[in-house]
This record gives sequence, C-alpha cells and structure tokens, in this order.
Amino acid sequence: MDNIIRVMFVMIISCYILIGISEGRLKVGFYNKTCPEAEFIVSGFVRDATEFNPRVPAFLLRLHFHDCFVQGCDGSILIDNGPISEKLADGHQGLDGFNVIENAKAQLEFVCPGVVSCADIVAIAAREAVALSFGPIYEVETGRRDGFVSNKSLADRMPDFRDSIQLLKHKFFEKGLSDKDLVVLSGAHTIGTTACFFLMDRLYNSRPHGGPDPSIDPDFLPELLQTCPPNGDINFRLPIDHNSGQTFDIQILENIRSGFAVLQSDARLMNDQVTQRILDSYLMFSNQSFEADFVKSMVKMGRIGVKTGSKRGEIRRVCNRFN
Ligand code: HEM
Ligand SMILES: *[C@@H]1O[C@H](CO)[C@@H](O)[C@H](O)[C@H]1NC(C)=O
Ligand SMILES: *[C@@H]1O[C@H](CO)[C@@H](O)[C@H](O)[C@H]1NC(C)=O
Repeated sequence: MDNIIRVMFVMIISCYILIGISEGRLKVGFYNKTCPEAEFIVSGFVRDATEFNPRVPAFLLRLHFHDCFVQGCDGSILIDNGPISEKLADGHQGLDGFNVIENAKAQLEFVCPGVVSCADIVAIAAREAVALSFGPIYEVETGRRDGFVSNKSLADRMPDFRDSIQLLKHKFFEKGLSDKDLVVLSGAHTIGTTACFFLMDRLYNSRPHGGPDPSIDPDFLPELLQTCPPNGDINFRLPIDHNSGQTFDIQILENIRSGFAVLQSDARLMNDQVTQRILDSYLMFSNQSFEADFVKSMVKMGRIGVKTGSKRGEIRRVCNRFN
C-alpha cells in the first residue's frame, strides 16, 4: 500500500515537471510556423522609425527593461487604462516608443491575426535596437503572452536612479538577476539620453552633504553643471554615455569606472566591491566579453515572469488595450 502511494506520488510530480518544461518555456523562433515573417516585420518598423527619429533604439531598449521589471515581460507597460495605467508610474518617466510597437502590431494583425504577442514585439524591437546601434546581434526568445493587469502601484519596486547600490542589487535579485546582470544591463546606458531632471539633485543637492556628488570626476563636473544649470530647463537632454551616446560599446563601463557616469545609479556601481570588481573585469581582462555577457543578461531579463503555457495570458489585438 505504502509503495503504491509512493509510486503515484512520483508519477504526479513527474507530470508536473514535464508540463513545466514543455509549456513554461520561451524559445527562439516560436513563430517560425505560425508567423514566419514576425521578426522581420518588427525589425522593419524599428528601422524605419529610427530613420525618422534617431532616439528610437534607446526608447525601445529601455521599454523592454521597464516591461519586464513590472509583472514580468507581458506588455503591461503598453496598456492605456486611465489614471491607474502602469505606464503613468513615476518610475517609468520618460518612456517612449509605444507608437513603434503599435504600428508593428497593426501590420502583424494584418499578416497573421491573433498570433504575435505585444510582449514579444517589445522583446524583438529591443534586439533590433541593439543591432541598429552596432551592438551584438543575438537570437531573441519568443512565446510570451500578454498580461491582464496594468496598475501603476505595481511599479513601486522599479529600480530608481536614487537607489543605493544595495537596493539596486536587491531589486535585481528579486527578479532573479545577479550582480553581474546589474552591471552588464546598466551597460545599456551606452546608448540614449537623460533629461537634466534626473541629475539636478546629483549636481546641486547630493546626499548627505549637499552640493555635487563627490563621485563625479572634477574634470567632468564643470561640463555637467554647464549643461544642466540651476533653474535651467530640466527637460534638456544629454547623452548618458559621455562622448559615446550613439553607439553600443564598452565606453559606458570605462566612463562609470573613471567618474564620468551621468546617472547616479550607474555611478553607484563603484560603491560596492562586488559590482566594482565585475566592472573591472570587463576593462582589465580582454577574455571577458561585455557584448557576449550583455546578450546573456538580456535573454535572462527577457524571461522574467513570462506568461507561457498554462499561465494566464492572451494575444492582444492592439497593444494598448486588453482584448
Ligand atoms: C539599474 C537600474 C536602472 C536605472 C535606475 C535606470 C535609470 C534610467 C534613467 C533615470 C534614465 C533617463 C530617462 C529619461 O531621462 O528619459 C534611463 C535611460 C535609459 N535606460 Fe536606464 N536605468 C536602469 C537600468 C536600465 C536597463 C537594465 C536598461 C536596458 C537593458 C536601461 C536602458 C535605458 C536606455 C536605453 C535609456 C535611454 C532612454 C532614452 O534615450 O530615452 N536602463 N535609465
Ligand atoms: C492597484 O493595486 C493596488 C495595490 O496592489 C490596489 O490596492 C488597487 O486596488 C489596485 N487598483 C485597481 C484598480 O486594481
Ligand atoms: C580571464 O583572465 C584572468 C587573468 O588572466 C583570469 O583571472 C580569469 O579567470 C579569466 N576569465 C575567464 C572567464 O577565463
């Protein structure tokens, strides 16, 4: 009797594991049979939009990060559901590129209706964004389904530019990401710009003593003060990767290490022995490839909380509304 129960128990557990493995996974080329042109179509829209506005790759790379960190990579960031919309959360300020996703979706609904999720469009667009910026070209996993929830209070735990290094590490850890992922993914700031808004406290009222953040290199400080003067336009934008804001390269890590970080959260990577050593490893040993590790961390980020298999999700008809 005991044995029968044991055997049944083992069988039930094995079934769970098998279902988990077969249904719960993303894969490269998920749409190969159902919508073979899916990736091609999304990439085309990203390329066209970039010709029109060179900021588009940075928008789309950041959008994928913000999608994945709230409720998983499920397109929740795209939803317009009035004043509680997730996208209106403070932590999402400055996000853009939604129209590129929506236009690609419209074309996909024309070619293969009801097949490609908005969350996957965001992931594919981020891959194209990196490629267009001369970064590494990688295979993107797909098979995400779109979520049913958009609520700005769920974005409370978004990593924030004012966070300490301990808190940044913790917020990444909560998402299954390591200290190495934190460093490598912060390297996404190799492209794009920031508004002076995010720098004002760092320049004029840094903690705990007021005045400029002492971690800013003295050779860099005057330039920053001039670009973002007190009482100046807080919407004025500057490259996050000093002197190298357009192309994907390792310069961002060199800048962070030498006190030329623009964002405070990037500078904080030097406040912790572990993250500092990871930074150093990319700059000191040529055997460590920033680009290869960036790809690994992007794939890992793209798996956060995905709704696959039996988990509830849908394929939206338009990306800013639930079906
Ligand atoms: C570690 C925590 C992070 C913090 C605190 C942070 C914070 C910020 C802030 C404050 C901005 C400026 C936004 C603006 O002015 O519009 C920004 C821009 C950006 N972030 Fe991050 N970020 C983080 C991680 C990431 C990650 C993981 C990615 C992607 C993998 C990413 C990609 C970008 C990009 C591409 C931009 C430029 C956006 C543009 O040009 O409009 N960031 N980030
Ligand atoms: C949004 O989330 C908060 C916190 O979980 C909850 O109290 C609130 O009722 C939610 N709002 C809606 C409209 O679901
Ligand atoms: C890279 O080289 C350094 C020093 O030569 C060594 O300590 C480290 O283990 C190497 N890393 C890898 C991944 O091979």
